[in-house]
Amino acid sequence: MADKPENPKRLRIAVLASGGGTNLQAMIDRLAAGSLLVDISVVLSDRPDARALVRARDAGIPAICIDYNSFPVAEITETLSNPPIDLHEIDRKQRIIEDASADRRLFRLARLVLAERKLIAAIEKHGADYVVFAGFMRLVTPYFIGHFNSAGALKVINIHPALLPSFPGTRGYEDTFGYGGKWGGITVHFVDEGEDTGPIIAQAVYPIFPADNEESIKARGLSLEYEVYPQVINWLARGYVNILRSPGKRPRVEISDPEYADILRTWIRKAFES
Ligand code: GRF
Repeated sequence: MADKPENPKRLRIAVLASGGGTNLQAMIDRLAAGSLLVDISVVLSDRPDARALVRARDAGIPAICIDYNSFPVAEITETLSNPPIDLHEIDRKQRIIEDASADRRLFRLARLVLAERKLIAAIEKHGADYVVFAGFMRLVTPYFIGHFNSAGALKVINIHPALLPSFPGTRGYEDTFGYGGKWGGITVHFVDEGEDTGPIIAQAVYPIFPADNEESIKARGLSLEYEVYPQVINWLARGYVNILRSPGKRPRVEISDPEYADILRTWIRKAFES
């Protein structure tokens, strides 16, 4: 696809955030400025005190908390059987909880799936073409991913604070700095059954200078996140995100925006400005 479609369809996204919500705020600001090409139909959090919920409500966006800790253990088995959920099947597919015993794994998965069922119901109620993780600090199971990725579509995206596949996990900036990297990066990727292993959509890099510390590189990386994530969302809205599949290989993503190289140049410039 070489040219921009004439009338891009206006998509809806559901944003999931656990904390400060500064990425969400960057999206809200662009929405207000008319430069985000999607609507945010709902913001969800796993934490009642997430600042992201306040940011959403201030912007007039429905904001909902699904408290992962609020399910009494006794109710888990009963709730999961109506309609029935095959936890063993989910356990076979998942690549996120590997260290525990089978019983312990199933118990952890049960709790996650229970919360995910509520997340899914809330997302479905408000409608969303894509699910956008913006600092959502929970493991998601194949139950959640499979719900949105039906028929081979990829519908769940995440932003990660490191240049994947280096430094997966929750401490991307700290791990990049601690390792002594001379360039750091951020990655937007589709979410799959592993931890930060899904197909990469976009990456941007920033320099690390001798005078830097964890805080300064985090600030530099975050200012890039605020550029890159809305851009990826706009690429999705414009149909510029193409998934290439070859049998036996992992899916690759290609961006067909004719301005792709210019946009990458802007990110590099931006990385030296902050
Ligand atoms: C960001 O660094 C993002 O890359 C990571 O979590 C952080 C979220 O920050 N996944 P915020 O809540 O958007 O301020």
